[in-house]
Amino acid sequence: MNDKTFRNLTPQKGLVHRQDRELRHGHRAAVLWFTGLSGAGKSTLAHALEQRLHHFGCSTYVLDGDNVRDGLCSDLGFNLDDRTENIRRVGEAARLFMDAGILVITAFISPLRKDREAVRSKFEEGDFMEIHCSATLSVCEGRDVKGLYRRAREGKVSEFTGISSPYEAPEAPEYVADTGSLSLEACVDGIVSMLWARGILKGRLADDGLCKLDPDSIG
Ligand code: ADX
Repeated sequence: MNDKTFRNLTPQKGLVHRQDRELRHGHRAAVLWFTGLSGAGKSTLAHALEQRLHHFGCSTYVLDGDNVRDGLCSDLGFNLDDRTENIRRVGEAARLFMDAGILVITAFISPLRKDREAVRSKFEEGDFMEIHCSATLSVCEGRDVKGLYRRAREGKVSEFTGISSPYEAPEAPEYVADTGSLSLEACVDGIVSMLWARGILKGRLADDGLCKLDPDSIG
């Protein structure tokens, strides 16, 4: 007996499918999973990328660590088990958004390879793209936008990623954004190019900068 049968669950299939929504939106749905140290620039890049995609006419949404931890995951802390549960829930939320035909961008440290791989395993090949926001610990600590590295060094924040809790960089991400040394614009450009190359974005850019997506090429 599988888990669903055991729990008396019968998955329901809707009458409007992901492909119908993608057709309406004019682009494929996908998850862009940003991972990186605190201060690497995940949120900044996620929101700048979303703004660019929005201007193209795409349907987008950013799931951001500091926001999700204020609601959906407000019961979770920063020990490794809680981070695993945080990433599992975000992965499930991202699946729902993707089914809604949306280009989802997630910005979470997601420090453990096994947690990121568990999320990846829930998606079809090509739907999930891991993007490493790559900046060294010394660069992130030098920025210390939130003052958390200083407090972690003083022992006032426990289990802080990179200081007293591990960060496992991806071994084979779909894309590495060099957020440690490149400009924000350059990082956005690089990811947008990847989305065209992978066929997530299709069609052409018109003179007004809006993406004229070719509905026939979706699906
Ligand atoms: S994750 O490890 O579970 O993926 P998540 O991305 O949701 O972390 O949250 C990270 C954010 O929480 C950081 O940007 C920082 O603002 C805040 N934070 C608070 N305590 C910690 C901590 N001990 N380690 C890392 N980030 C922390």
